This record gives sequence, structure tokens and C-alpha cells, in this order.
Amino acid sequence: MFGRVKPLDAILATAEKKSLHRSLGAFQLTMLGVGAVIGTGIFVLTAEAAQKAGPGMLISFIIAGFVCAVAALCYAEMASMVPVSGSAYTYSYAVMGELIAWMVGWALILEYAVAAGAVSVGWSGYVVGLIENAFHLDIPDLLVRGPYDGGLVNLPAMLIAGLVTWLLVIGTKESASVNAVLVAIKVAALTLFCILALPVMKMENFEPFSPLGFGGIGAAAASIFFAYVGFDAVSTAAEETKNPQRNMPIGLIGSLGICTIFYLLVASGVIGSVGAQPVLDANGLGMEPGSAELAARCAAMGDQAVVCSKEALAWTLREIGWPQVGNLIGLAAGLALPSVILMMMFGQTRIFFVMSRDGLLPASFSKIHPRYNTPHVITILTGIFVALFAAFFPVGLLANISNSGTLFAFAAVSVAVLVIRRREPGRHRPFRTPAIYLTSPLAFLGCLYLFYKLDFKSQMLFVIWAVIGLVVYFAYSRSRSHVGRGSVEVHEMDGDVPPTSVPPIN
Ligand code: ALA
Repeated sequence: MFGRVKPLDAILATAEKKSLHRSLGAFQLTMLGVGAVIGTGIFVLTAEAAQKAGPGMLISFIIAGFVCAVAALCYAEMASMVPVSGSAYTYSYAVMGELIAWMVGWALILEYAVAAGAVSVGWSGYVVGLIENAFHLDIPDLLVRGPYDGGLVNLPAMLIAGLVTWLLVIGTKESASVNAVLVAIKVAALTLFCILALPVMKMENFEPFSPLGFGGIGAAAASIFFAYVGFDAVSTAAEETKNPQRNMPIGLIGSLGICTIFYLLVASGVIGSVGAQPVLDANGLGMEPGSAELAARCAAMGDQAVVCSKEALAWTLREIGWPQVGNLIGLAAGLALPSVILMMMFGQTRIFFVMSRDGLLPASFSKIHPRYNTPHVITILTGIFVALFAAFFPVGLLANISNSGTLFAFAAVSVAVLVIRRREPGRHRPFRTPAIYLTSPLAFLGCLYLFYKLDFKSQMLFVIWAVIGLVVYFAYSRSRSHVGRGSVEVHEMDGDVPPTSVPPIN
């Protein structure tokens, strides 16, 4: 069952022929990471985390950040050793065989496409809030929220997903300079938030610190994990990195470290300034974020709690007397979040592309547009799904579903790195995971724990998705697999074939 392994040397031959210029240093890698990571998680899901854990969400941020850090160290060794397209999917193919690789690729669809949907919904919340507040309009909820969230269809979220799809089809890639500007906007927005919110903190707002116990803190960690997703963009840039042994860990841990510090400060600002106690039901239990019941209760309360807000940070600033700055934060989110959607959808098309080239998905998926030179078929297909997710589902559920796929992929990589270290200790590794016998099990167990703490709905959806994946594999992919048919290609033109690697740094 695990026999169909894609030989590592064939994969590496691909990488060698690519000969991408090694141009990235530690600073650029860190910027790449911060650009991909800061998004809907902190801007929007802070409210969901508060609903699950209250002020205890501070611990949730630390738990999720820690799991990501150990997983990132495992990712980095694999990425430096197998620096080719496909990330976790490709690593698994080389180490644990086709079936696991397929399942990882299948789970990555959740990670990327569903996450793009979640960020689209987050974007919609901020842009709608901005328009309503800046122009004193009241846009009907029916048109800007999904059916689970007190509305009918989230049109702005669909719109942004469509726009990003179009940008990808015509071949837009984010350049280093655009990334730098967007990182600056996000960092400036969060800094401004901290400058205004932290000085008006009241210590009594931190009491009770964990109204729903450690269970709530764990559940919030499983959701807020989403806020850290995206750092894998750094490890997939391994082939373009100067001195990866030094720069990779700096880029990965540096970007995670910067994000964690910001997240803790921002969350403290929210808790301390406006309070972050969950809305409880008649039995004293926390109501489910993104549910119609919570939406109804919030409406009855006049949305007077941060946990009710779709734009937690802007709402907080308006509450503490900075409405214009709140709008500015909305503007920053409106400008910067589409780049996170772009990176996610880009990652998705890239995984599909590699899986299709390996024969596991139809060849038409990797068709390239004659004029734009982009994999337009798969990009448009991805875009349609992302737009549908964004239109009808609440941000928290999408984030949790995406987390389930990501956790599976991270767990697979943390096993793969240990297996290959034992199996081929002598292989060249530009970066070695420090204390691997501790780091890798910690990453694996951390992923398992967070998966266990996800809500039941997301866990079930993951299981259903995995079963569908197995059916597709045995009904379609297995018999068409190129490795299964005995042909292992070396793609000499990999560096030129779209989708190219992570946003090129010019
Ligand atoms: N980490 C990214 C976000 O929070 C996916 O939007």
C-alpha cells in the first residue's frame, strides 16, 4: 500500500534542472512569511476566539503558535531537502508513498481553497463595516452574510473571490515590492491598533480569565491556528534561498515570532479595552460562533459585544472613541486581505497542477492558457469553489475546516521528516530540524491535539472529505498514476512552467 514511492532522486533531478536563482535572504523570507500569515485570523477570528475562550484566548494564541513553530521546523528540513513544487504533497510522495501523498494533496485542497473562502468572508466583513460606517449606510444582512450567519448570500465575499481568480488567470503574481507594501500596511494597522487600545486597558476586563475552562482555550487554539497558516509559503521558497541552513529557520521562526507578538498585543488590546467575555446560552454554555442562534442573540443585544463583530478590531476602535481610525483599519484590511486570498488560491492551483502532472488528477487540469501562460482551467475551477464557499458559509466554520486539512498535512510532514532522517541519514540536508526526536513528535502530537479540539462539524466534514478522497483515488487516480505505470518524469522546465514558485522576489 505504501510501496508507490516517487524516488527522491528523480524529484531532486527536477529541482536541479530548475536552477532558480538563489536570491532570498533572511529578511525577505521573514517578510514573505508575515505577508502570507497576517490576515483574517487576527482581523476577524479574534472575535470567535473570544467567544470560545474569553480572555483565555491569549493562551490559545500561544498554543497555536507553538504547534506551528515546531511544524515549521519540520517543514523547513523537508523543504530544503526536496525544494520542488507541491510542498507537503511532494514530500509525502517521496517518503511515505502515493496513497498518503494523495491524501495529503487532497487535504491541502481544504487548507488552501477553503482558507481562501474564509479570508474572502473576513474581507467582506471589514469592507461592509467600512462602507456602512464611513457612508452611514445600512446594507441588508441578507446580501452580505451567509445563511448560517443571519443572511442569505455573502455577495462581497463572492465578488472578491471572483476578482482574485481573474487576477490569477491573467497571470498576476505578487512581486516583492507589492508584498512589502502590503506587509507595511498590515503591520501599521496592527501597530496603530495597539497604540490606541493598550493604554485604555482595564485589568478587570481580564476577569474571569477563562470563563469556559481549558476546554474553551483549546477550542479557541484550534480555531485561531488559522491565524498562523501560510508560513509554508516560506518553506516552499527554499530553492530560492541563499544559505538556507541559516536563513530558512530565521524566516520561519522569525515570521511566526513577529506574528505571535503582534497577535498577543492585539488580543490584549481587545480584551483590555472593550472586554471579551463570551455570550452564554441559558445553560451557561458558550453559544456557537457563526451560528444563527448567536447571530439572533447579538442582534437582540444591538451587537454590543466584540464577539458579535465581523470586524473585531475596527469595532473595538469605534467603541473606544476612534471611529475614523476604525475605518482606517477597515481600509487596511480591505487592501491587504486580497493578497492572502491570492497566495492561498495560488498555492491551490500549484498543488492541483503537480497532482495532475503526476497523473492523479485529469491532465486537463494542468492545461496552460496560450496567451496568459497560466493554468486557467484549474484556476477557474478553484475560483468557482472558493466563491461558493465564501457565499454561503461563515468564516469560523471555513477556517476550522481549513485547519483540519492543514493539521493533517502538517502531521504528515512531521512524520515524513523523521522517517527520511532515519532511512537516509547521509542525504544532503541544507537545513536540519533541531532536536528532531523531540520536535517531530511534538509537532505531530500538537496537530493531533488541535484536530481533536476542532468542533465536531469540522471534524466530520474532514472525515467525509477524506472518504471521498479515497474513493476518487481508488476509482480514478490509482490506475492513472504515472509512478504506478512506471514512468517517473523529470520536468526540466519546472522553473518556467506555471504556476511558478511562491511570489517571485524581484
Ligand atoms: N493566516 C492567514 C489568515 O489569518 C490565512 O488570514
